[in-house]
Amino acid sequence: MVKVLFVCLGNICRSPMAEAIFRKMVLDERLEDKIQIDSAATSTWEQGNPVHKGTRQRLAKENISVDGMYSRTLEDKDLDNDYIVAMDESNIINIKKFLNGRYNGELKMLLEYAGEQREIADPWYTGDFDITYEDVVKGCTGLLNKIKEDLK
Ligand code: 4NP
Repeated sequence: MVKVLFVCLGNICRSPMAEAIFRKMVLDERLEDKIQIDSAATSTWEQGNPVHKGTRQRLAKENISVDGMYSRTLEDKDLDNDYIVAMDESNIINIKKFLNGRYNGELKMLLEYAGEQREIADPWYTGDFDITYEDVVKGCTGLLNKIKEDLK
């Protein structure tokens, strides 16, 4: 089983979007028995809160539901992931602080899997869920290709 964890600041906009999009891609390729997917926040700010309306509405256009998903903070049980996937540079800094050298897997920003050293813009601040959606799809496509190579 390959374990993937998407992480952002609040776990209500970007990382749940990535989790839901990636889950759909994995289901479409019938790899759900081989890839386990979750998401978490670096902060406790939105703990227990549902996915942001903007993410919910953008994903609804793709017939993707985020019902039953709630924000939670990164915790020690997440150390067993193979991939921890951050949305921006500040996430990387905060995740590294939390991991404190205890992690053996891969930690990268999502768009690195699309060959781009660039952040996923935070729609909490930009209000633009379309750009974030397009970038998340781009990154998730690259990540899935990478993991499919691992599974060969
Ligand atoms: P996210 O966006 O990290 O993509 O979930 C944010 C959500 C909440 C806050 C900031 C960013 N906040 O300040 O509560």
